[in-house]
Amino acid sequence: MAQKILVTGGTGYIGSHTVVELQNAGHEVVIIDNLSNSNIGVLDGIEAIAGKRPVFVEGDCTDEATLRKLFEENPGIEGIINFAASKAVGESVQKPLLYYRNNLNTLINLLELMPEFGVKGIVFSSSCTVYGEPDKNPIDETAPIKPATSPYGNTKQISEEIITDYVHSGAPVKSIILRYFNPIGAHPSALIGELPLGVPQNLVPYLTQTAAGIRKELTVFGNDYDTPDGSCIRDFIDVVDLAKAHVIAMKRMLDNKDTDAIEIFNLGTGCGRSVLELIESFERSTGVKVPHKIGPRREGDIEKIWAEPTKANTVLGWKAEAPLDETMRNAWRWQEKLAKN
Ligand code: UD1
Repeated sequence: MAQKILVTGGTGYIGSHTVVELQNAGHEVVIIDNLSNSNIGVLDGIEAIAGKRPVFVEGDCTDEATLRKLFEENPGIEGIINFAASKAVGESVQKPLLYYRNNLNTLINLLELMPEFGVKGIVFSSSCTVYGEPDKNPIDETAPIKPATSPYGNTKQISEEIITDYVHSGAPVKSIILRYFNPIGAHPSALIGELPLGVPQNLVPYLTQTAAGIRKELTVFGNDYDTPDGSCIRDFIDVVDLAKAHVIAMKRMLDNKDTDAIEIFNLGTGCGRSVLELIESFERSTGVKVPHKIGPRREGDIEKIWAEPTKANTVLGWKAEAPLDETMRNAWRWQEKLAKN
């Protein structure tokens, strides 16, 4: 059934792709975003793909009055997907209070307003960072949560606890927590994608900027890990596949009366790929070389982690489908589009 969904952080990277998939599935979308790490032009991309412009509110979710006004002016919101959060690991070490304030106040405000405005459920963006360095791979949802290695990671752990405590308190809300592995790529239309501000910290935007000549060379952070080629291993998941999982999770949470009030799912491909393999995939699929060198390890990096996604596959009926080479081609198409503008 079509529903009205609030997407916080909806002009951001994962948010914008999810808005497209929600609209494609017939849902009505209201976005709130403070544009701190995205720009308003993203709405044109969303409209061009999905044929419909979502309602957009420029505002900050840490301000309860702003959210209250949004719910008053947009009655009938049934579900929330909460992407609005700061996400740079390094910055979080420098500015921990900014991270705790943004990420936790946003969540608390949303949870507090949900019963008052009849919002039934919230899908929360969490991260595989809650597992720390896994004792074994692939890792499933029952694996222990390890002490966080950054304030950013800690906000994800604390957020999961806040949601759990609130739901268990008997509040009339449901939640699905999604633990993302490493989202990469862009919409195949090249109309939306990742828009990193300044020098990218994540691998794929740095890689595509290097291929485009914006950066001189990519540094591979370490080749002496205990992995087949010595570089770190991650579970890289296509952002469109990831976006689709949110639509399915929302439907399950809102339409299915019998599901648990709180559920947790890993979102990954189930396949670990090394940093060097990712570079190879990019070069193979685009024919473009990526100048790169081996550098020292980056502090705080996990050696290897990839998902056991069986729970999402069977319970949600969702599966990551995009082949890595295609994801890398889409990332490159998006980079080329950015260069043109
Ligand atoms: C990190 C966070 C994750 C968060 C994600 C999004 C941790 C442990 N992980 O993921 O929770 O959701 O960022 O911001 O906090 N690399 C290079 N050269 C580069 C950049 C990266 O070799 O220039 C390597 C890294 O060492 C790593 C891999 O590429 O092995 C992926 O790095 P990155 O894209 O930054 O993501 P994570 O650190 O895995």
